[in-house]
Amino acid sequence: MNDLEKYFYNNSENLIHKWKHYFEIYDKYFSKYKNKDLNILEIGVFQGGSLKMWKEYFGKNVKIYGVDINPACKSLEENGIEIIIGSQEDRQFLQKLKSQLPPIDILIDDGGHTMKQQIITFEVLFDLVKEDGLYICEDLHTSYWYDYEGGYKRKTSFIEYSKNFIDYLHAWHSRERSFKINNFTKSVHSIHYYDSMIVLEKRKISPPEDLTTGNYVIPIYKPDLSFFKKVNIKIRSLLQKQNY
Ligand SMILES: C[S@@+](CC[C@H](N)C(=O)[O-])C[C@H]1O[C@@H](n2cnc3c(N)ncnc32)[C@H](O)[C@@H]1O
Repeated sequence: MNDLEKYFYNNSENLIHKWKHYFEIYDKYFSKYKNKDLNILEIGVFQGGSLKMWKEYFGKNVKIYGVDINPACKSLEENGIEIIIGSQEDRQFLQKLKSQLPPIDILIDDGGHTMKQQIITFEVLFDLVKEDGLYICEDLHTSYWYDYEGGYKRKTSFIEYSKNFIDYLHAWHSRERSFKINNFTKSVHSIHYYDSMIVLEKRKISPPEDLTTGNYVIPIYKPDLSFFKKVNIKIRSLLQKQNY
């Protein structure tokens, strides 16, 4: 059992609500942040149990911020835990929050889990996460539930939205004018999907470098690409005509 599992299974204080398999994932990404000066933001306070768990796990130098729509959550504040009341669906509230909080090391979206909430929270708060921080969105299975605005391959789902992240990660290699490097390309090192959870690992990214060392020792095989080149030239000129 890792330290978070030990805490969770021994918890007899404020209720914590997490999926069993999350604990292994948390520990995998969180352990390197233990006992550092940290700012953690969790959207979705509920009974306050997870905020207390983070406080215990990360050590005495952590400052925890919780956001919830339920005004009663304010009473769960304690030393090292600050609670801000508002809706993660409200861009103005999130913008204000962003201007008031320090840069965040780990952001966990465990709020209302609707598509709108997950997308708006990502769009406003992704930048608040530090250059070497983590952005986590939980309970992605709601992307497959109609009552959360999800549905298999439904355009409005967070899962479909997040599939664009895979393109952004590769934008360095784009040969198309409509597909450009963006802030995500320059600041995300890796995207990790688990059942119901996405972990975005941030890192300052410089353009990828294609390297070789050593010497050629056998003749290289050159496939005949003349057909594909001709087709490619035709497609490109057609696309250029359409200003694509
Ligand atoms: C799954 S619970 C959070 C569980 C908690 N993180 C834990 O691990 O024990 C979801 C919380 O999100 C809150 N919530 C629902 N809609 C919200 C919204 N629009 N903005 C902020 N919080 C919201 C609910 O009030 C509830 O407390």
